[in-house]
Amino acid sequence: MKILFIGGTGNISTACTREALRQGHTVYHLNRGLKAAPGKGVLSLKADIRKPAEAAKAIDGLTFDAVADFIAFVPEHVEADLKIFAGRTGQFLFISSASVYHKPARHHVITESTPAFNPFWKYSENKIACENLLRRKYEERRFPMTIVRPSHTYSEAYIPTPFGVGFTESQRILDGREIVLHGDGQSLWTLTHSDDFAKAFTGLLGNPRAYGETFHITGDEVLSWENITNLIGDALGKAPRIVHVPSDIIARLEPELGAGLLGDKTYCAIFDNTKIKQAVPGFQATIPFHVGVRRSVEWFMADPRRRAVDPALDKALDHILSDWKK
Ligand SMILES: NC(=O)c1ccc[n+]([C@@H]2O[C@H](COP(=O)([O-])OP(=O)(O)OC[C@H]3O[C@@H](n4cnc5c(N)ncnc54)[C@H](OP(=O)(O)O)[C@@H]3O)[C@@H](O)[C@H]2O)c1
Repeated sequence: MKILFIGGTGNISTACTREALRQGHTVYHLNRGLKAAPGKGVLSLKADIRKPAEAAKAIDGLTFDAVADFIAFVPEHVEADLKIFAGRTGQFLFISSASVYHKPARHHVITESTPAFNPFWKYSENKIACENLLRRKYEERRFPMTIVRPSHTYSEAYIPTPFGVGFTESQRILDGREIVLHGDGQSLWTLTHSDDFAKAFTGLLGNPRAYGETFHITGDEVLSWENITNLIGDALGKAPRIVHVPSDIIARLEPELGAGLLGDKTYCAIFDNTKIKQAVPGFQATIPFHVGVRRSVEWFMADPRRRAVDPALDKALDHILSDWKK
């Protein structure tokens, strides 16, 4: 198949690119070309997707079996895609987010029928609006869309914590400094390695069972945040000094960090993956967190330039800790 990824060199889309190439698809990327494509054979189209004329010019004369937009966040982004790709693709996949689900969930296991409602986090509200727009297009004219909701998904260049993706909290652990964990650390959470996500995601490309449908794709391993943090410490070879702080206090002190807690990470997130497993027979996540996080730590430790600390996050954590202790 001929596939276009808008993005393609990111945290999730890199693994999807590698997997699509491995399966023998022709893979195009549309991005600004700031990062090298993973793997030989990617056909790169250089354009800024936020400049619709530039993007339309880049794909002029091309058609695709599937186009997946990894970087659409608001309805205006989806509207622009609809204009650019109308009549040019057999399927359009929108990468949404499992943070759209109503939490705390009324049933402790989340399925695709769990209502989408998250007024705490603008990011999730916007993803819901994008989904609704695409559903309308499917209902009105059978626009062949598929909505894909990743949950917390990490890759080698990503150490997942409640607040960050990079090395900031890991560096604090290595330095013996305290880190913040929301609540009592016992809420249950699902992490998915991007290589596992990619196996399921590529199975949706050109898959007629996916048209008009919504899927989440996650691993089946469920861990408490305390477990997750200690496994990060194990991979780093140093026990974390965890300070538990209630989510609402974190949100009051650092609203930006709190937004991702109150409508999301404060609560348990356990997913039923029956639907994706039915659509993509044979899909099974195989990378447990204790294995995936070691791979991430190895990647960061291989080059000091990768271990950059985010000064704003570091300062925000210090602010929360000092205020909480008072
Ligand atoms: N990771 C998670 O836990 C998680 C959970 C739920 C949902 N999601 C969703 O997953 C998606 C992120 O996918 P990802 O991790 O692969 O992406 P990502 O890491 O954010 O990567 C960004 C990609 O988009 C390209 N890009 C950025 N701005 C661009 C622009 N203006 N024009 C063209 N290309 C541009 C980048 O290349 P250039 O910089 O070279 O242009 C790069 O290829 C998002 O929609 C997010 O909401 C992620």
